Amino acid sequence: MFEKFYEKLESLGIVPVIVLEKVEDSAPMAHALMHAGMRSAEVTFRTACAAECIAAMIEAEPEICVGAGTVLNNEQADRAVAAGAQFIVSPGYSEDVVAHCIGLNVPVLPGCVTPTDITAAIGHGLHVTKFFPAAQYGGLDTIKALAAPFVGHRFMPTGGVSAANVEKYLSCPAIAACGGTWMVKPALFADGDFSAVEAKAREAMDIVRRVRS
Ligand code: 3PG
Repeated sequence: MFEKFYEKLESLGIVPVIVLEKVEDSAPMAHALMHAGMRSAEVTFRTACAAECIAAMIEAEPEICVGAGTVLNNEQADRAVAAGAQFIVSPGYSEDVVAHCIGLNVPVLPGCVTPTDITAAIGHGLHVTKFFPAAQYGGLDTIKALAAPFVGHRFMPTGGVSAANVEKYLSCPAIAACGGTWMVKPALFADGDFSAVEAKAREAMDIVRRVRS
């Protein structure tokens, strides 16, 4: 299930995890990421305008692959999908949200940090899950230990992934893609100038190309 999306995730390499407080930041954010070759975004439902921002990013850059993050319930998943979200990410494993997204045929990446979580996800036919918060749950060592019994299962770590360690994460075959906020921190574009976002996103994509070419 969702094999096409998993291939896409692999080719993206890094998915920026974005908190947008203002809808008007959506278009310049989408442009900055696309100019940098970072062709995806996870817009988190941590702000009230998340669904609107998803729609605005897609309108500005129709080729960008935008998903919704921090999705905690079916209602948020529905709003995200109605806004154009192409995938759903949750910080933890919710049976409800996973089943709902599968019913909608929308790729879902639930947060799974234990063998029990991963077993539940695999039971639904999922082959990639989020691993969050990665640093606090043991980072790459834990991912490698989990990958041993769950042959073929892959992870998208977020939480503590940064420019300094993303290369190490991406070098591990059990990693489908990495997520993180380091290139889209609100402070980087607080003044409405997205050039720092673009520069950090470009640097990050250089790493993806280096590791995965
Ligand atoms: C997430 O929601 O995945 C995290 O907030 C990303 O964590 P980071 O800020 O450490 O990248």
